[in-house]
Amino acid sequence: MSRTLSDLPGPRPWPLVGNPIAAHRAHLQFEEWARRYGRLFRFRLGPISIVGVTDPEIARTAMQQRPERYTRIQRTNQIMYDLHVGGVFAAEGDAWRRQRRLLNPSFHGRHLDTFADPIRVVTERLRQYWLGTTERSSERGEDVLADLMRYTVDVTSVVSFGQDLNTVSGGGDELQRQLAYVFQVVERRSNSPFDYWKLPGVGLRTRRRMRRLDAFLRDLIVQARERQAREPDRRERPSTLLESMLLATDDEARLPLSDQEVAANVLTVLLAGEDTTANTLAFALYHLAKHPDVLARARQEVDAALGDAFVPTLDQARELTYLDAIAQETLRMTPPTPLVPLQATEDVTIDDLQVPAGTVLLLLTRMMATSPDVFDDPLTFRPERWLEGDAEQRRHHRRMMLAFGGGPRVCPGRSLALLECAMVLAMVLRTFDFSLVDPDAPLREVTQFTIRPEGVRLRFKKRGASQKNIGR
Ligand code: HEM
Repeated sequence: MSRTLSDLPGPRPWPLVGNPIAAHRAHLQFEEWARRYGRLFRFRLGPISIVGVTDPEIARTAMQQRPERYTRIQRTNQIMYDLHVGGVFAAEGDAWRRQRRLLNPSFHGRHLDTFADPIRVVTERLRQYWLGTTERSSERGEDVLADLMRYTVDVTSVVSFGQDLNTVSGGGDELQRQLAYVFQVVERRSNSPFDYWKLPGVGLRTRRRMRRLDAFLRDLIVQARERQAREPDRRERPSTLLESMLLATDDEARLPLSDQEVAANVLTVLLAGEDTTANTLAFALYHLAKHPDVLARARQEVDAALGDAFVPTLDQARELTYLDAIAQETLRMTPPTPLVPLQATEDVTIDDLQVPAGTVLLLLTRMMATSPDVFDDPLTFRPERWLEGDAEQRRHHRRMMLAFGGGPRVCPGRSLALLECAMVLAMVLRTFDFSLVDPDAPLREVTQFTIRPEGVRLRFKKRGASQKNIGR
């Protein structure tokens, strides 16, 4: 006997509105329903039926069956295309296949060699900025998330198009404001029951701002082309994602990315790389402040690996296995992306459930990674579980950890994100003692496109050792 969506358990929907939720805590509401109704449940947002999934095998299979059987949410994709963000994140089908094939080399691990030094410079600048806070330290402490957002914008800009915007120490934060604006518009439009921005006279301000942003990106493309023409070496060794996107050709069709595709993908990378990594780092600092035993072990590792330097080289960063475990554990318990929504392109059967084309599957990946079926003692922050030969390890299904998604659309920026995590965490541990301003306050997670920790305020105190610069 097969089941249909109406056989699934779930909260009772109201006529027309479905199951109203508070947008700023949407992911917590979905997780609460998952706990109440089980591995497959249904709810409705307005007219759209959504199936919540907490079964990791079902989630992995669905992720693998892209792009054919599932897309991202088609309406959100269209909203992104309309805003000139129709890059690899929002593309589907053959257009996605081609863009992803052309972009993959840009994200290849070998580029980390090129990016590591500029990232170290930005990391050193964040260190100097936080050293400054030890002198002007106030009762309220430092809002680390705001600082980390500026850090990730600087890193992503250097890596994407080679300009160091220096927003960390108060340079122009125009780009950061533009990115925040794009997020807001995508979120507002996605949450609206109808396309209000298509009404006459509506959306002019957004169009104007998006045109300005597009012009900025087109300028970057022209400059990068000129640099490549002037310095042919750059064609052999591209130093930014933009340069390598311009060189990418498709072996099959020998078609390079169009300027429009390059612009959309630079913007996509800026958007995808900013909040996610900053939020992860803020969550990680929170966990470190709450777990002095973890902090002590991490500090030992960093002190031993870095000698008298404060910011690791790429080779040193690669040795920091415990720090990597801290990042993995942070992403397991408090990922900035605890949900991956997919939309079925055709009728599909999941177990005995008939799912009609157009249905949205909401994969609750954090629920999976915090299930006792997947990890032992899943609600304890224990980075050791990620280390080879962990003696206490019993249940540990690392392939069910889907904080970076999975299948062919898995996050291409994960190595870069983990490198940023290693750099910042090592720098902080080498330089500072730090504590939460309010250690008893519960961690507040807010849905704002990604999930951010709200109100992580830290007090930094300089560690005793003599201060040196990047220390090569
Ligand atoms: C800790 C930081 C990050 C997390 C947790 C994260 C998470 C994710 C997730 C969950 C997806 C969707 C994957 C899927 O559908 O299976 C994704 C896609 C993507 N991410 Fe990340 N991400 C992070 C950092 C970055 C960075 C630094 C970049 C770029 C520099 C980036 C670029 C992208 C792109 C381009 C996609 C779309 C891939 C596609 O659709 O083919 N991400 N990311």
